[in-house]
Amino acid sequence: MAVLVTGGAGYIGSHTCLELLEAGYEIVALDNLMNSNYEALRRVERLTGKTIKFYQVDLLDRDALEVIFQENPIEAAIHLAGLKAVGESVMMPLFYYHNNITGTLLLFEMLKKYGVSKLVFSSSATVYGRPQTVPVTENFPLQATNPYGMTKLMIEQILQDLTTAEDAWSIAILRYFNPIGAHESGMIGEDPKGMPNNLLPFLSKVAIGYYPQLQVYGNDFLTSDGTGVRDYIHVVDLAKGHVRALQKLYTCNGAHIYNLGTGQGYSVLEMVRAFEMASGKKIPYTIAPRRPGDIGECYADPSKSWEDLQWKAEKTIMEMCRDAWNWQTKNPEGYRTETREVTAII
Ligand code: NAD
Ligand code: UFG
Repeated sequence: MAVLVTGGAGYIGSHTCLELLEAGYEIVALDNLMNSNYEALRRVERLTGKTIKFYQVDLLDRDALEVIFQENPIEAAIHLAGLKAVGESVMMPLFYYHNNITGTLLLFEMLKKYGVSKLVFSSSATVYGRPQTVPVTENFPLQATNPYGMTKLMIEQILQDLTTAEDAWSIAILRYFNPIGAHESGMIGEDPKGMPNNLLPFLSKVAIGYYPQLQVYGNDFLTSDGTGVRDYIHVVDLAKGHVRALQKLYTCNGAHIYNLGTGQGYSVLEMVRAFEMASGKKIPYTIAPRRPGDIGECYADPSKSWEDLQWKAEKTIMEMCRDAWNWQTKNPEGYRTETREVTAII
């Protein structure tokens, strides 16, 4: 029996595949590679000494999706595939809704048709919108401020409706806070296309000299130093959270929501200092206006994940920055295009 990982070649997907293989699961990975590189999965295979059956398939391609279910004994799915750039989603809402919502519906229909009732879904702390207080628990009010966030909210609702309609479903909805860092080997990591939107990839690119300076978006928030505070979590801790969530699905029914965060917030300027220490490089920065839609402070209360899943984040902010820098210096161009040895492309 195998676990289907959609978006398996992506940043979080590749780290999750690695942890699943280490935990003894067989994997079928699906990705259209629109924001990723097959090289990531080749490296996961090299790191683990195990193989991944890979399909370069678009979730919107119903027939190709069905072939995967016909060819493989899928017992559970981890659904990470999706577009994730907030600004882009504002500019191209139809593209985002079609890709993220239609693709997800086709996947869920296929899960139902083939009797696969265990599902882990990648949601996001973005569903908390502008939280009134911190830390944020899973029962805080939900709100979306952009089409990307709306796709997460809509899919969460679809999952709740599925479990209301049919008892068989066993679903974990994981709300990630801010995943950063890379596998400690430096072989897999985050490889954004073009100019990075997120803080850590941008810091890495400044430290390595691709960009002259960081723009700090606002220093007038109600935080300790005025800059935005977030709950950064090491991507390997996050990936391990998926394994724990999957294991839990074998013991319960219904839809269960979990915050995956550390419970601790760091400001932009604290992150700059941590990255300077980890890299030994000076990070020049200027204070710029607030980025539209940004919130001041957001960090998790992760206690439910500990109580139900016995999962908690273990890696420190220095380890996150050190591993991000290790990945950046070993792969200044990210994943280079190498010969593809795909197990199966349909
Ligand atoms: P990523 O872009 O690296 O991975 C997503 C993968 O999905 C990519 O490999 C992409 O090629 C693939 N994909 C997209 N649309 C597809 C489609 N129609 N068919 C097949 N494959 C498709 O992003 P990531 O950071 O690894 O994020 C994974 C998931 O986690 C996403 O759903 C994202 O919304 C969610 N998430 C990410 C963050 C973050 O900060 N990275 C935070 C919260 C939630
Ligand atoms: N920031 C800067 N300069 C930059 C980039 C970011 O100052 O060049 C600041 C932001 O203003 C914010 C903090 O760094 O205060 C973190 O910003 P990110 O863009 O790294 O992360 P966000 O919290 O804004 O959003 C990310 C994802 C969302 C996801 C959310 C919660 O982009 O999709 O984490 O998981 F929903």
